[in-house]
Amino acid sequence: MKNAILSHLPGDFPWQVQYFDTIDSTNTYAKKLAADGAAHGTVILADHQASGRGRMGRSFCSVGGAGIYLSVILRPNCQATELMHLTCAVAVAACDAVEQVCGFRPGIKWINDLIAQGKKLGGILTELSLDPATGLVNYAVVGIGINCRNQEFPEDIRHIAISAEAVTKKAVDRSKLSAALISALQKMDKILLTQKSEIMARYKENCITLGQEIFLLRGDEKRPCRALGLNIDGALQVIYADGTTEFVNSGEVSVRTR
Ligand code: BTN
Repeated sequence: MKNAILSHLPGDFPWQVQYFDTIDSTNTYAKKLAADGAAHGTVILADHQASGRGRMGRSFCSVGGAGIYLSVILRPNCQATELMHLTCAVAVAACDAVEQVCGFRPGIKWINDLIAQGKKLGGILTELSLDPATGLVNYAVVGIGINCRNQEFPEDIRHIAISAEAVTKKAVDRSKLSAALISALQKMDKILLTQKSEIMARYKENCITLGQEIFLLRGDEKRPCRALGLNIDGALQVIYADGTTEFVNSGEVSVRTR
């Protein structure tokens, strides 16, 4: 699989790729490597994750032979406050890769979910390590999971999950999609700090949450509101029934159906 992935990347591709048949979580492993000094652009891929992780402490279904489970270590030389849009940038790169290889473009449910036919195609988990004294980023680990070949899902997520093959009705080449993803991430990394407004404009075009009546879920709170817009850091602007507005940069949303 590793050789197949590399065969779809240029010979002088600057990032290093590591591949595992099975691992607990590519993000957990990438964080260990990063703490031990691994280089910017170290990519970890696994065929199967025993404990794939999602946002909010959830698990991410990571069946062997079915999905793409990828993490990359980034070492942008900047303050954490300059990197608030990282998950958004990664989501746009993931949409580019899926569109290039699978022929359809997923939507993005704020902030980190890739959506196709109203269901979850994949997700992004971004984890940062900061120097508390300076606020500088030591490293960022960006994890992406994409359901590619799954024919079915476990009972608890069957109604909300979808795979790329279920959309295309054709075989999806995971090595081609992995390579496209790595390449899109590397392109994104080159413009991450210099083309923030362009990246966020593209995120906005893909974001299916905007304009929708939603519930904002934060901790135990579930508040109805409407998604109005996004700021340059990817915070979601919402308006509540009493007319007050707020920019939200934590939590998640669910769509309200009447
Ligand atoms: C989410 O849906 O909340 C985010 C899912 C992120 C899953 C990916 S799979 C590769 C990487 N390793 C993990 O344990 N999680 C991310």
